[in-house]
Amino acid sequence: MAYENITVTAEDNIGIITINRPTKLNALNKETIVELHDAFEAYDQNSYVKAIIITGSGEKAFVAGADIAEFADFNVDEGEKLAALGQALLFDFVQDLSTPVIAAINGFALGGGLELAMACHFRIASDNAKMGLPEVSLGVIPGYGGTQRLPQLVGKGRAFEMIMTAGMVTAQDALAWGLVNHVVPQAELLDLAKSIAGKIIKNSPVAISKAIKAVNAGFEDGVNGYNQEVKGFGEAFGTEDFKEGTTAFLEKRKPVFPGK
Ligand code: COA
Repeated sequence: MAYENITVTAEDNIGIITINRPTKLNALNKETIVELHDAFEAYDQNSYVKAIIITGSGEKAFVAGADIAEFADFNVDEGEKLAALGQALLFDFVQDLSTPVIAAINGFALGGGLELAMACHFRIASDNAKMGLPEVSLGVIPGYGGTQRLPQLVGKGRAFEMIMTAGMVTAQDALAWGLVNHVVPQAELLDLAKSIAGKIIKNSPVAISKAIKAVNAGFEDGVNGYNQEVKGFGEAFGTEDFKEGTTAFLEKRKPVFPGK
């Protein structure tokens, strides 16, 4: 599919997806969500791409939220459908992707922008980044998973404070709260993301995908994460990656994982 709101590049086994609506601070409209779904799906199915970085274009914003102009006159049904469709197409989709996804937050990550970053497997930020869930200031609540993922990451009290005040936290506060893993000057953000991705892609893609599934299982209602871990652990023994990883260790060489 041809993209109008995002750009994609793949180099050194790392796919980079950049949201590219700088005049709207990369706000997520319907088309952007569809394009992002398509790009994540394509990279997930592309065996060359072993890790994905998502960031925003420009120096100001990662994503300043869902596109407010698009839903301003929605009714109850349309509002519910907007959240349900977005969660299925993008936010849950990214969370459950087999390929690891790093959010490189290069500026404002607000509303749907922070929700997108939180759906990624982990986040790093530039020191100018500001994060928040300002939805209640618009008379609505977070609808792309924010009420669930924010408390998971920062704890219930801090999540309530962020949601109720509709305020923004600095990158340093986000670091202290565990919302992001690292903070660096903006000019170094992509290099750091690539360097972390570079460490990830040396490991077994099959094992990583099973680890993602096991970690996520612990946050799903009615699913026992420990059982998923046992299942994934057992399944790993049937993979070529496991044979290669253990053989390489015993032969004192670096593994070359076939990804199967
Ligand atoms: N949806 C739609 N358009 C948005 C947007 C959003 N979430 N966030 C920013 N924009 C647009 C602005 O309308 C403006 O467009 P215009 O130039 O056509 O008028 C452009 O992006 C630049 O934004 P602007 O507000 O002028 O920049 P700023 O530096 O003064 O303020 C923010 C930056 C992020 C503080 C401010 O844009 C903002 O509060 N955005 C909304 C954040 C939000 O509530 N997100 C949650 C949505 S559920």
